[in-house]
Amino acid sequence: MGTRAIQQKLKAMEVTEGAGVSVFRTIGTPQLRNLDPFLMLDFFCSNDPDDYIAGFPDHPHRGFITFTYMLDGHMLHRDSMGNEGDLRSGAAQWMKAASGVIHSEMPKQSEGLMRGFQLWINLPASEKMSSPGYQEYAPDAFPVVKQDGASIKALVGHFDGVDAPIQDQNTNVLYLDISIEPGKQFKHTLDDELSGFVYVFEGDAVSGNTDLPEQTFAVLGEGDEVVVTAQEKPVRLILVVGRPIGEPIAQYGPFVMNSPEEIHQAMADYRDGVLVREKAQMVGT
Ligand code: CO
Repeated sequence: MGTRAIQQKLKAMEVTEGAGVSVFRTIGTPQLRNLDPFLMLDFFCSNDPDDYIAGFPDHPHRGFITFTYMLDGHMLHRDSMGNEGDLRSGAAQWMKAASGVIHSEMPKQSEGLMRGFQLWINLPASEKMSSPGYQEYAPDAFPVVKQDGASIKALVGHFDGVDAPIQDQNTNVLYLDISIEPGKQFKHTLDDELSGFVYVFEGDAVSGNTDLPEQTFAVLGEGDEVVVTAQEKPVRLILVVGRPIGEPIAQYGPFVMNSPEEIHQAMADYRDGVLVREKAQMVGT
């Protein structure tokens, strides 16, 4: 096995979500329905508080995990069971929606930049109807590893002998926020069974023969090593990989199950007000 070449590059599609808020979606669009075990990736970014203030009022989720990483700004989170949290710059929330959560995600920004990612990670059939829960992590909860010319914040998984505070037993997710100095290189060996992507959100990078200009999402091909080099400016990207689940995916908006019958059940439960079966526990605010 050799270096993982870039298999597919995508330009984010601007989609309207919540109360008319624009997000930039890559996974979860007609170009890339999913990237097992990942179901959706949204990037949100704006200097104008009016773009986001309407936020994402009450909406349901069932059958997967949402992982929200705030790069800049504030996001207030509240659910129908009374849990509440505030994600600050550099903080993250791991929400296992599993059997069902109804919540709102509302920006608190009055000025300045608001920027972040939301990733949906699928759950195997055996976990889809398990108990929901949240975990919130302050910015300083994440270890930062310094390498020659690169600085790596480990959000999920194990990296270079360091454990991130979040470990995903089901799909073995590795989620890194990587800063690379101009002209320097980041290299990392990965298990070749993992699938995933990079998203360059600051500066221009190169991986193998492929240019990765700012705001490029790219699917990693087969191989066991990822190599990303910064060009003239500092680069910042996320690298996210996970073990594919390999089960059928039935999705209708915020419900992701294995069969159409389970989707119909989720829709009926939501309509009948019984989507939320038990109170999600909030840990680590
Ligand atoms: Co949500």
